[in-house]
Amino acid sequence: MMRSTGYFLRAAAAWTTTAALALSLAACSGQPEDEASPEATTAAGTTRLASPTPTSTGPASATDAASAQSGAGGDSGHSGAGAGPGQGPDPGRSSKPAPTGSASASGSTSPPGKPESGSAAGSTGPPVRNAEANARFVTVNNPSSLSVVVNKQRPLRPLDYAPSALVVPKVSRAVSGEGAQLRDDAAKALQKLFAAAAKDGINLTMLSGYRSYETQVATYNSWVGRLGTVAEADRVSARPGYSEHQTGLAVDIGVASGACSLQYCFNNLPAASWAADNAYKFGYIVRYQLGYHKVTGFYAEPWHLRFIGKQASKAMHRQDIHTLEKYFGLPAAPSY
Ligand code: DAL
Ligand code: ZN
Repeated sequence: MMRSTGYFLRAAAAWTTTAALALSLAACSGQPEDEASPEATTAAGTTRLASPTPTSTGPASATDAASAQSGAGGDSGHSGAGAGPGQGPDPGRSSKPAPTGSASASGSTSPPGKPESGSAAGSTGPPVRNAEANARFVTVNNPSSLSVVVNKQRPLRPLDYAPSALVVPKVSRAVSGEGAQLRDDAAKALQKLFAAAAKDGINLTMLSGYRSYETQVATYNSWVGRLGTVAEADRVSARPGYSEHQTGLAVDIGVASGACSLQYCFNNLPAASWAADNAYKFGYIVRYQLGYHKVTGFYAEPWHLRFIGKQASKAMHRQDIHTLEKYFGLPAAPSY
């Protein structure tokens, strides 16, 4: 299953509309660097997006602890434009990680010298704090499950997994071809979400949906080329086999005007506020929220919605949980 660097580079030639769109991020306005007051940097009504996850009982896991730390640590720009030195999602990592051929890239969830620990390892049983999560725990490793958790420590298995039942949602789109597709359940929910937003005067547009392994190869490689280093690319783009987009359950949204598409300034638009406040009603969550990069591995991407089903999304909302890692009792995944 391991892919060679040569494969990555060859596949870059297959660069798609999606990747081209993603490159527009180079003009990112930069995420505010006011670490002490992340809420102040967000659009009105998006406090849930910015506030750290409070826990009445205090951190009970590595994920909780990291979440609390990240809330105090603030966040920086998606494209790296606003990321100050030492503020990256993975300050302890090697400066030149290998995108291919590494243990993690080959499908292992346990990089050399860093074995998994805690409930997320899968061998120590389900987490104990969240009954709803317990019931679904067995599905977090299944790429076809709505509950699959993909992050820098949890590649898809197989790495080149491809979902079935992909459809093109009947919504406004700025993407065609492969990237216009989503899993059918996610597509139906997105249609309802877009319709509800429209009723509230918010006209959303689908920017990027499904990405095959090959497309993610091209997308990731384009970022490496654009930003110059693997370390920088890792801040904004998931490596092949590590992207939620490859599950068909993730969608990037924007507004009809194209304003702030895939840029952090999207967070200042009413559309971002609406999504942050309402996505859960349709089974979606804003996956990469401001202040949680030390848990999720990525700085805030207020445009990136992930379908997890209404039961889970409503439970997360009710419990004020901001990351799938915390919801499922999984370790933080700041780096590969
Ligand atoms: N930008 C998100 C993390 C992805 O590449 O899947
Ligand atoms: Zn995305």
